[in-house]
Amino acid sequence: MKKLISIFVVVIMVFSLAACGGGASAPAADRQLKVGFAQIGSESDWRVGSTNSIRQACEEAGYELLFVDANQQQNLQVQALRDFITQGVDYIGFSPVVETGWDQVMKEIKDAGIPVIMLDRNIDMPNRDDFYESWIGANFVHEGERAATWLIEYLEHIGRADENINIVELQGTVGSSPAIDRKTGFENIINSKSNFTISQSQTGDFTTELGKEVMESFLTRAQADGVKIDVLFAHNDGMALGAIQAIREAGLKPGDDIIVIGIDAVKLAFEAIVAGDQNVTIECSPLLGPQFVESIQALERGETLPKIIYSNYDDYDETLYAVFPDKYLKASDYVDSRVY
Ligand code: AHR
Repeated sequence: MKKLISIFVVVIMVFSLAACGGGASAPAADRQLKVGFAQIGSESDWRVGSTNSIRQACEEAGYELLFVDANQQQNLQVQALRDFITQGVDYIGFSPVVETGWDQVMKEIKDAGIPVIMLDRNIDMPNRDDFYESWIGANFVHEGERAATWLIEYLEHIGRADENINIVELQGTVGSSPAIDRKTGFENIINSKSNFTISQSQTGDFTTELGKEVMESFLTRAQADGVKIDVLFAHNDGMALGAIQAIREAGLKPGDDIIVIGIDAVKLAFEAIVAGDQNVTIECSPLLGPQFVESIQALERGETLPKIIYSNYDDYDETLYAVFPDKYLKASDYVDSRVY
């Protein structure tokens, strides 16, 4: 099974925390650690799962957690980070809504000597590795590649491998690492297929509401152009679920007339797969709280962290699991146990 990629080590091993800018003002063993976390928002069930995981892990570790939900707004995240400096936190956790625009505030945090652990999404700035201890999350390019690979295998399985395939794409938040990387990964694979076309591609900002709205516009335009949509590739399950409503309201059968691919593996997607409305979900685990706390504990012990720590995953459907048992799991076996 492809559980693989637990820990990808770019820099390992044990050095003094002083070498990575540790900023605790008194020996941590003597007092409760104060941790600031700047969360993106509550845009999806995935994000809610992420927040719960961080809160629970910090509570179990006995940390004082200063948690800010930035409502998907970069300026609110920047403000939260500056407030954490003022509040004298020992560590900062941070999931950046978009990749760019963090240079100044990251420099301010570094100047304040506060170690940063990035969760889920990443930043894009010169020498970014100098500004955080570790990044923990999923390989988003790989997720896009897995989604496209599943599609190719599925079309072969149902005898449509040689047909012209018209794909529409619901992208995540513009400028965010999962939107950029999932698109790249998907295209990496389908570019080798001359019978595949992405005819429409637009952001749904990772929300169910916009996913529905944008899918309605995709369907309207396809109808006006006299073309059939064969596949929806949604960058998350939330948007896929909104699109499923739009497909049904247009008089079509989601999962059948239009193949629906989502990413995240949230409970509602499992239910949609079991109901036959969605065809596959590519897992991206939001349960990063324990790894976040373990990273803080390692820094407290004076260790240097790997710069990249990838989370585990599995992908779920109701068809190919039987053909490729090493690659896919049967969704209906997991629907009841999914907690987010
Ligand atoms: O950054 C991870 C993405 O953010 C998830 O796929 C999506 O659901 C969330 O909003």
